[in-house]
Amino acid sequence: MVWETLRSNPRKHDKRPYVLLNSAMSVDGKIATVGGESRLSSPADLKRVHAIRASVDGIMVGIGTVLVDDPKLTVKFVRGPNPTRVIVDSRARTPPTANVVISARQVPTIIAVTSRAPLKRVSALERAGANVLVCGNGSKVSLPILLGRLQRMGIKKILLEGGGTLNWSMVSRGYVDEVTVAISPKILGGARAKTLADGEGVARIRDAVRLRYIGAKKYGTDIVVRYGLLT
Ligand SMILES: NC(=O)c1ccc[n+]([C@@H]2O[C@H](COP(=O)([O-])OP(=O)(O)OC[C@H]3O[C@@H](n4cnc5c(N)ncnc54)[C@H](OP(=O)(O)O)[C@@H]3O)[C@@H](O)[C@H]2O)c1
Repeated sequence: MVWETLRSNPRKHDKRPYVLLNSAMSVDGKIATVGGESRLSSPADLKRVHAIRASVDGIMVGIGTVLVDDPKLTVKFVRGPNPTRVIVDSRARTPPTANVVISARQVPTIIAVTSRAPLKRVSALERAGANVLVCGNGSKVSLPILLGRLQRMGIKKILLEGGGTLNWSMVSRGYVDEVTVAISPKILGGARAKTLADGEGVARIRDAVRLRYIGAKKYGTDIVVRYGLLT
C-alpha cells in the first residue's frame, strides 16, 4: 500500500520537492549495526518501500550510505519506473565503481557536490554518465540549493532513505514533510551504531523536531508508523 501524499503548505513546494523520509530501524532506534549492516526490513516492508520508490520522482541518500551499502536504489519486488537517484556527496567521494555510477546511463543519477570537490573525481563521475550538480561552496552540500534545483528539474516528490547524518540535516532544517519508520523487532545496541537521525541533535526536548501521528500498519514482522511534521 502506498499512502497518499499529505496535504501541506503548497507554497513551500514552489521552492522544494515534497520529501518523505523512510527508514527501517530496530526497537532501540538503530538503522544499522556497529558493523554497518542495515538489512532490517521484512520482505513485506521491502515491498512497501519499493512501491513508494516507484511512485516518487527522486530517491536521495548520503555518501555515507553509498560507501557502506553500495545500494542500487532501483525499483525491485514491484513493477514501476525507477526514480532519479540523488547522492549527497560534498567531495565527490562516490566511487566510479559504485552501483549507482555503473548504471548511471540506464537510471538517471545526480551527484550533488560542492565547488570544493576535486575536478578529477567530478570528471570521472560525469564520464560515467552521472549528472554532477555543484550546490554551494561550503564544506557540505547546500540543501536549499540542491532542493531548489531538483524542484526546477521537475523532481517534485523525493523519498529520503538516509542515513542518519543526512536525515538529521534534512529534518532539522525543515525540509521533510513526513516520516515513515518501519520498526523491526530486534535490538542491535552499540553506542556508535547509526540511528534514524544523528548529526548534532538538540540539547533540549523543547527544541525537538515535533511530529504528529498519522497511522500505523503491520508489514510482516514490522510495525510501520507514519508521522507528519508539526511546523
Ligand atoms: N536502515 C535503514 O533504513 C538505512 C537506510 C540508509 C542508510 N542506512 C545506514 O546508515 C549508515 C550511513 O549513515 P551515515 O550517517 O554514516 O551517512 P549518510 O547520512 O548516508 O551520509 C552522510 C554524509 O553525507 C554528506 N553530506 C553532504 N552534504 C551534507 C549535508 N548538507 N548534510 C548532511 N550530510 C551531508 C557528508 O559527507 P561529505 O562531507 O563527504 O559530503 C556526510 O557525512 C550506513 O550504515 C547505512 O547502512 C540505514
